[in-house]
Amino acid sequence: MDQTKPTRVVLSSDHAAIELRQAIADHIAANGYEVVDIGPITAESTHYPKHGAAAAERVASGDCELGIILCGTGQGIMMAANKVKGIRCGVCSETFSAKMIRQHNNANMLSIGARVVGDSLAVEIVDTFLSTEFEGGRHATRVDMIEPQDS
Ligand code: RB5
Repeated sequence: MDQTKPTRVVLSSDHAAIELRQAIADHIAANGYEVVDIGPITAESTHYPKHGAAAAERVASGDCELGIILCGTGQGIMMAANKVKGIRCGVCSETFSAKMIRQHNNANMLSIGARVVGDSLAVEIVDTFLSTEFEGGRHATRVDMIEPQDS
């Protein structure tokens, strides 16, 4: 990460996670991150794939360095994000995995299930994800192998 400017973090969710997403946005903004919250802002029922893909495109394009996405379980929106080339997104319900997806998998997006974890734990998961760096080395070889190979 470029330490000379705030890390830009895109946030999105479906209707199941509006309040938690906004709490996370406020929390990380207060900690110096540049938040790009692309909504939605109302709790009207919506479709998680489009929000996951929209956030993923922000990361894949380089507009944002990291992304945090949420839905009820975190699973559906993660699946949508991972369809975008260059995205490595994991669902986390505890902090150990949040640390390891950065250290070993160089995850550039985190997904959380708002119906799975409590708000305080979700914030801890986010803090762990954002404060952990990729270790590189042998892990870089493996991460490179994740991308689909052109045939
Ligand atoms: C919406 O009801 C729910 O299906 C969604 O938030 C998510 O859990 C999907 O993976």
